[in-house]
Amino acid sequence: MAQRSDIVVIGGGIIGLAIARQLCQSGSAVTVLEQHRTGRGASWAAAGMLAPHCEFDEPDPYFILCRAGLERYAGFVESLREETGRPIDYNATGMIYPALSGGEQARLETRYERHLRNGVSVEKLTVREARRLEPDLSNRIRMALRYPDDHQVENRDVVAALAQSVRLNGGVIREGVTARKIVLDGNRVAGVDTTDGLWNTPTVVNAMGCRARYLEGIPAAHRIPIRPVRGQILALRTGAATPFKHTIYTGGAYLVPRSDGRLIIGATVEEAGFRDEVTLGGVMQLFRSALELAPGLKSWPLDSTWSGLRPVARDGWPVLGAMGTPGLYAASGHGRNGILLAPLTGDLIAEAILHDRVPPIMRPFLPDRFYAARTGETNDEHDS
Ligand code: GLY
Repeated sequence: MAQRSDIVVIGGGIIGLAIARQLCQSGSAVTVLEQHRTGRGASWAAAGMLAPHCEFDEPDPYFILCRAGLERYAGFVESLREETGRPIDYNATGMIYPALSGGEQARLETRYERHLRNGVSVEKLTVREARRLEPDLSNRIRMALRYPDDHQVENRDVVAALAQSVRLNGGVIREGVTARKIVLDGNRVAGVDTTDGLWNTPTVVNAMGCRARYLEGIPAAHRIPIRPVRGQILALRTGAATPFKHTIYTGGAYLVPRSDGRLIIGATVEEAGFRDEVTLGGVMQLFRSALELAPGLKSWPLDSTWSGLRPVARDGWPVLGAMGTPGLYAASGHGRNGILLAPLTGDLIAEAILHDRVPPIMRPFLPDRFYAARTGETNDEHDS
């Protein structure tokens, strides 16, 4: 017999769970369908950096979205802690972005001026100042920027708490269920056909991450052009003697200290299709970059390695809001910023679904940017 839900969210990653939580808290009956295990894809693989200031040079709409995402994060974490009683490792010490070459130093000097002009909180540090804050940094760095407002969070804690919160608020999470296709009534959503039968619902959210484009049953032009971009990561076991307080960020690698005594070293950025493997080349690249930043890391034991697939849209920006198929919403393509943008995405998609509103901050990210002027064209040329 068919099952029923006010809203079906396809994808039990951090984005799908944050949307489901928001909708459940507003009184909707929500079902999350997760193909594998909740939060074990990109949300589990991420390093949890909440770093719009390190990640962006220009104050473009994507930066503005990410900064709005960061502004609400501490409150979001606090509310999840209170609601679920779960610990969530949140580190607000800030980030240090060192320059290791003359070219990088010139780039960071320019970036510093630009960020100051744009009101970003940033400090310029001499080598001595940087090494006073973080003595394990290489003495070969030339200068550094410090971003006190960039934070980091243990993303796996957030996902576990979000799943608990969805359930506490009456939501249903079904793992091991694959959404096969959208069922239409005329041109609008009427349900989802899955490996566990039919769900009748007028509203579906595609939060399928890097598989978002493979949702069947809708016009080809309404598929979201998203591809996987692999990130390999490793962790050292440094115990209580963790050498860093700040997150250390460069173009080559970042070092993220966790309070459980691991130092996360990430991440590669690779076009490898859906192959979420750890490779010798990837690990070597991370080791090389990490040792340039902090040669002393070579004596710490290796804890683990893993890899994940970032969902990246054709233009590199998230895809958020109502699709051309009435009743279908997109929430994917968050690329390097999925952990950061999850709470804000939850709010924005709930606003779109419940109140049919497009907050101005969301407008540049609407899915119709890919097909508005090109109906009939498919988005399938993107299969790289
Ligand atoms: N957020 C950093 C990354 O995706 O590697």
